[in-house]
Amino acid sequence: MHVLGIETSCDETGIAIYTDHGLLAHQIYSQAAKHAEYGGVVPELASRDHIRKLAPMVRKLLAEHDLSAADIDGIAYTAGPGLAGALMVGAAFARSLAWAWNKPAIGIHHMEGHLLAPLLEADAPAFPFVALLVSGGHTQLMQVEDIGDYTLLGESVDDAAGEAFDKTAKLLGLGYPGGPALAKLATQGNPNRFHFPRPMTDRPGLDMSFSGLKTAAVTTWRNESEDLTPEAYAQLQADIARAFEDAVVDTLLIKCCRALQQTNNQRLVLSGGVSANQRLRQAVAEHLANQGGQAFYPRPEFCTDNGAMIAHAGWHRLNAGEQTPLHFPVHPRWPMEELQPLHTNYGK
Ligand code: KG4
Ligand code: ZN
Repeated sequence: MHVLGIETSCDETGIAIYTDHGLLAHQIYSQAAKHAEYGGVVPELASRDHIRKLAPMVRKLLAEHDLSAADIDGIAYTAGPGLAGALMVGAAFARSLAWAWNKPAIGIHHMEGHLLAPLLEADAPAFPFVALLVSGGHTQLMQVEDIGDYTLLGESVDDAAGEAFDKTAKLLGLGYPGGPALAKLATQGNPNRFHFPRPMTDRPGLDMSFSGLKTAAVTTWRNESEDLTPEAYAQLQADIARAFEDAVVDTLLIKCCRALQQTNNQRLVLSGGVSANQRLRQAVAEHLANQGGQAFYPRPEFCTDNGAMIAHAGWHRLNAGEQTPLHFPVHPRWPMEELQPLHTNYGK
């Protein structure tokens, strides 16, 4: 079975083909440069750009792999959560193709795409595992028994971790998208100059909070940034970036360890844009190795939004006989626990 996957939930147009032998091809087009001058994603621009890019990208991908419509057995698209307009573009495009080609279509939950992305790698985790989903819109700890069998263990009560990265980066004048730029700058920061709080770690539970960290960064910036030489100014930026990143990484690590303990599990999956963060990946891998556990994450390009994760999740669901009816709307908000469990017992 060849499944064409289409991702348009935010500012990346991602397409891919996933087959019974694994991932055959994928392509990502990032709109980041278009949104950068506005300091964040402009939903209307995002929708229009997806419209421009989708058809030529799909045509090119098929041609590059000598495939035609007849070789595609199903189409998977992101049906939510995300920007309503951007989702509608992807859904309308995917559903029209499915109708014209007379193929089944399936609407995929964007965060399920992220959650299952580590299964695209050679050292895929077996079920059950605990997943930390960390993206620009979500920070959630999930107990995962199988594909579609998800229980929310805890989540951020305010900003998502990626959102906090982006807002702090903006404050430091690092532009958009801020997370990767902040992480790069943090490598030059002094870890001992500032210490930011590890929110909600002093009480039991798996919920998290990241908006206070952004405030800690703002306050430190205001108190320290006057009358500095250019060198001292640059060092201040890097030191705040480092203190912020260390606080986020520590907080996430503490909550992940608690979740593993609570569920009596040894396997932790990290996914979503923030899981591309090198310090987070390293901290989690080292800590779990010392505890006899194991961490799994996708390659960095499959941590952030991409079509491969949608084609992959779609392949599993279409293979299980699931299809999405034509009248199915997009879901800008969509709890993962509403998804259908598949009972694959994959890796057991
Ligand atoms: O999963 P994703 O591409 O989109 C959403 O579903 O939201 O995640 C994007 C988020 C952004 O907030 C971005 O700043 C953050 O992931 N991000 C990072 C890194 N790479 C992307 N945050 C920290 N360090 C990184 N290396
Ligand atoms: Zn995402």
